[in-house]
Amino acid sequence: MSVKKHARLVAITHSTGSHPRGWRHPNTPARPATDVKAFIKVVQELERGLFDALFLSETTGVMPGPDESHQHESMVNDSLDPTLLLSAIAPATRNIGLITTASTSLTQPYTLARLLASLDHLSGGRAGWNVVTSRFDTEARNFGLDPRLLRTPERYDVAAEFVGVVKGLWDSFDDDAFVHDPQSAQVFDPARIRLLDHRGARFRVSGPLGIARPPQGHPIILQAGMSEAGRELTAREADLVLTSGGGGWHAREAREDVRRRAAAHGRDPDMLVVLAVLPAVLVADTRAEAEAQLREFTALLDPADRQRHGILAGTANDFADIVEDWLDGGAADGFAVGFPYLQGPVEAFTRLVVPELQRRGRFRTAYEGSTLRENLGLPRPVPVRS
Ligand SMILES: Cc1cc2nc3c(=O)[nH]c(=O)nc-3n(C[C@H](O)[C@H](O)[C@H](O)COP(=O)(O)O)c2cc1C
Repeated sequence: MSVKKHARLVAITHSTGSHPRGWRHPNTPARPATDVKAFIKVVQELERGLFDALFLSETTGVMPGPDESHQHESMVNDSLDPTLLLSAIAPATRNIGLITTASTSLTQPYTLARLLASLDHLSGGRAGWNVVTSRFDTEARNFGLDPRLLRTPERYDVAAEFVGVVKGLWDSFDDDAFVHDPQSAQVFDPARIRLLDHRGARFRVSGPLGIARPPQGHPIILQAGMSEAGRELTAREADLVLTSGGGGWHAREAREDVRRRAAAHGRDPDMLVVLAVLPAVLVADTRAEAEAQLREFTALLDPADRQRHGILAGTANDFADIVEDWLDGGAADGFAVGFPYLQGPVEAFTRLVVPELQRRGRFRTAYEGSTLRENLGLPRPVPVRS
C-alpha cells in the first residue's frame, strides 16, 4: 500500500494579511502593525491548525510606487521588525516555526548569525531565515549603496559567502561545549570551540559567535530567488524553497530543477522542501459564500486592481483537491499560504481545510517534534567544519 504524501503548510503574512489592501477590511484591527496581541491570536490559530511555520517577509525601504513618489499604498510602510516580532511571538506559542527575513546585501553575517541563534534559543529550536539579496533602489539608498549592486547576479556570490559564514558561526561551539561548572569555574570546554577565522572575497570574520550552538544546529534556511543564481544558492544551502507564479507546470519544473541541482551538490534532494506559493486564499463552507467574501474584499480595491487580484476563493474540497494534485503531480511538497486579511480567513482555513486534508491522509494530526527541523522531517546538521 502506497503511503500518501503529507503536505507542509507555512503561513506567509504580515500583521494585515498578505494583500496590500488587507488593512482596509473591517475585521483588521485599527493599528495592525503594533497590535501584537491581535497578531499573536492569529498565530495561535495557525498553531491550532498545525501549520509548520509562520513566515514574515521584510523590505528595508519603502516599497516604490509606480511613479517612485513614495505615496503609493504599501503593506511594508508600517510593520514591526520581523525578528523582534517573532521573538515576542515565541513565548506565546509552542510548536509553530518562526521564519524571519534578512538581507545578505544590507547586513553583516555576525549580526545575523547572532540574531538567528538567539531566536532559535528563545523559541526552543523554531527559528528560520528567509535569505534575501534585496530588490529595491529605496533599500540600497538606506544603506548608502549603489542600487545597481542589487541587480547583478554577483549579489548571490555575496549571499553564498554570507550564508557559509553564518553557518560557520553557528558551529562556533560543539553542542556540549558549555559546561558552566561552578566547581572548576569552567564556562566551556576549550577543546570544543571551533574558531572560524574566515577570510573571503567579501567578509572577514574571526568568530567565535558569542552564544552556544542553536538548538536546531542550524536554524532553517529558506530561499525564494528563482533566477539561475538564486536556484544555485537554494541547491547549495537551503532547507526550504518557495516557488511562485506560472501555475502547476512552472512549479513542477522549478521543483525538479532545484532538486536536480541539490543532487549535483551532493545533497539528498528529499532534504530540500519545496513550497508553492498560494498568495491569498479565502475559504468558506460553500462556493457561494467564498465568492461573496471575495466580492466583499475586492470592493475594497481600486477598480483597476479588481481583475487580477490573485486571490483564490473556494471550499475546503477545492483547496484539498489542489493540494493533492500538486503533491501527487510532483509540483510541490507543500504550500506557503497567504490570506488577504487575517481575522476570519485564518480561522476558516484551520476549521475547514486542515480537517479535510487530515481526512484525506494529507496532513499531520499532531506536531511530530518540538523543533521546526523535526516537524519538517529534516535532520539536524553536523557542524560544517571539523
Ligand atoms: C513568496 C516570496 C517572498 C519573498 N519575500 C521577500 C522578502 O521578504 N524580502 C525580499 O527582499 N525579497 C523577497 N522575495 C524576493 C526573492 O528573495 C527574490 O529576490 C525574487 O523572487 C527575485 O528572484 P532572484 O533574486 O533570484 O532574481 C520574495 C519572493 C517570493 C516569491
